[in-house]
Amino acid sequence: MREIKENGMHKDKIIIAIDGYSSSGKSTMARSLAAEIGYRYIDSGAMYRAVTLYAIRHNLITPDGSVDKLSLNNSLNDIKIDFKVTDGKQLTVLNGEIVEGEIRRMEVSNLVSIIAAIPEVRHDLVAKQQELGKEKGIVMDGRDIGTTVFPDAEMKIFVDASPETRATRRYKELSDKGIATTYEEVLANVVKRDHLDRTREESPLRCADDAIKIDNSNMTPVEQNNLLLDLFNKLTGSSDSNN
Ligand code: CDP
Repeated sequence: MREIKENGMHKDKIIIAIDGYSSSGKSTMARSLAAEIGYRYIDSGAMYRAVTLYAIRHNLITPDGSVDKLSLNNSLNDIKIDFKVTDGKQLTVLNGEIVEGEIRRMEVSNLVSIIAAIPEVRHDLVAKQQELGKEKGIVMDGRDIGTTVFPDAEMKIFVDASPETRATRRYKELSDKGIATTYEEVLANVVKRDHLDRTREESPLRCADDAIKIDNSNMTPVEQNNLLLDLFNKLTGSSDSNN
């Protein structure tokens, strides 16, 4: 058993990998858990979305998904992605510009899985993600965090819910932000991305053998937060550290 308490604080930080299907609520879970335990949260999907936005803006991908791979791969060194925290909200920064709103648009959602299937893009972003996690004390969500980015992560979660549940959630989220779309468009996007993410050659979406699977179709955000917190406390032997 890992003994990691010192004056009620965690001495040894761990890595928490949360993977799963599109719009499964991974980010909400990861963000809440990180805030609760004082870890850094990284949304790896935002990094793929930022590269996609860059490709759109530089005409390196057409609306029907043809990519100028050579030019994109040659541009990877010019794509700088950071995260900025403002009022407790994490904002994605692309080459100095906050692009948090832009990267959530349907245009980006429709093309991101094509960009994310390109091996050179993945190698570049995986290296950046590993760098972000080298001090541990991080919660990262995505598709391949427990399998490729941090195969030795101490805590691995794989989240799923039915496509309809996921599309309903994402549709509400986008509508609340004033982004124009329809439930049907969101459902089609969710199903298409599931397929592309599962069947790509380079680190496809799959549940790591040692991940804990959670179907949160019928869970409230509070229930899923408590579940994760319990798991974290059990794993780190720190059940009273948050009191
Ligand atoms: O919309 P949702 O929150 O489900 O997706 P996201 O986490 O923002 O990720 C957008 C897309 O990036 C995914 O559909 C994947 O194609 C890709 N992605 C990936 O390939 N690997 C990751 N670790 C994270 C995202």
